[in-house]
Amino acid sequence: MKIAVLKETAAGERRVSATPETVKKFIALGAEVAVEAGAGATASFDDAGFAAVGAKVGSRAEVLADADILLGVQGPAPDALKGIKSGAWLAAGLNPFGERARVDDYAALGIEALAMEFMPRITRAQSMDILSSQSNLAGYKAVLDAAGEYGRAFPMMMTAAGTISAAKVFVMGVGVAGLQAIATARRLGAQVSATDVRSATKEQIQSLGAKPIFVENVAGIEGEGSGGYATEMSDEYKAAQAELVSSHIAKQDIVITTALIPGRPAPRLISDAQIASMRPGSVIVDLAVESGGNVEGAVAGEVVEKHGVKIVGHRNVSSRLASDASALFARNLYNFLSAFWDKEVGKPVLDEEIGNAIRLTQGGKVVNERLLG
Ligand code: NAI
Repeated sequence: MKIAVLKETAAGERRVSATPETVKKFIALGAEVAVEAGAGATASFDDAGFAAVGAKVGSRAEVLADADILLGVQGPAPDALKGIKSGAWLAAGLNPFGERARVDDYAALGIEALAMEFMPRITRAQSMDILSSQSNLAGYKAVLDAAGEYGRAFPMMMTAAGTISAAKVFVMGVGVAGLQAIATARRLGAQVSATDVRSATKEQIQSLGAKPIFVENVAGIEGEGSGGYATEMSDEYKAAQAELVSSHIAKQDIVITTALIPGRPAPRLISDAQIASMRPGSVIVDLAVESGGNVEGAVAGEVVEKHGVKIVGHRNVSSRLASDASALFARNLYNFLSAFWDKEVGKPVLDEEIGNAIRLTQGGKVVNERLLG
């Protein structure tokens, strides 16, 4: 069983899908591990560290030759996989809706492409969930990015020259990223409030010492769909939310938006008029910018200024914390493969629940329901 760790090739991607810690554990399971030279360099894991735990470090061709399982953070370009063993697995974040054509190419190569972001949200798969591990870091980094762009301080400070008031931070979307953003902003001393369409988040917001801002008395506000994800809201709800949020946003210094709806463009939460209502020097961070954006005028990969307000739209925010993001991503992959490792056959064997959820291609065909439906 040969596991290959590929060097990421996507622009701006700094993470790596294995670390010396996980390589060592794979070897302990009985696998051979080959790491493409330089794969961990941008995440501060050097080739010597991988070699020291028993990995073979080599060129892409050497690493791919006879590989049974390929690991990646993002999906590799299919062209770069020519000659791969038929039936080999590719386990990575494959962005199946965004990179739909690639899925056909993986099928044509005869490999089994496993999309880690399709991992079901069930208790036993929590340790395998790349969306959670990466969103958590993105939520933390979003607050630091906001603090970096903000020309004022976060905590209240009483100095001999007078008092500085605490920054007001508003978090929109309280999933994994939002919860971490609330906790981080609180640790920096900000006054924090937050909102979500899922009413279950109200208590979570309060337990972190922040103030919930919620639409009340509107039909169908229970915005929770399957797997704990949000659903699209009614027009009545959207209008009530916009009104409530408008008066609140005008008083905020920092807004962090993280709202996503699976398989759909991100909901628009902040309009240009709302941005104009904020005081100059305020900062908005749009973590959903790559999924269409929560904020009008946000640009993926850029920090833009509108009405004196900075709108931060960094791409791939977890990759900006490449070392920790890689360590967690690598553990997600290890937890996944090791949970299914069959010692007798010396390789992982997936069960139906998880296998059917994440498997995109098999036997030359696209097989995933979410892509065929
Ligand atoms: P997500 O990344 O899909 O969305 C982020 C947040 O935006 C969600 O809380 C969503 O409700 C909110 N949102 C969507 N539309 C909105 C709107 N119009 N206005 C305001 N907020 C809006 O969600 P994420 O972070 O992946 O987590 C969702 C839930 O799933 C959480 O409760 C989390 O604890 C749970 N979860 C469970 C896992 C497991 O059991 N294995 C793993 C990961 C998360």
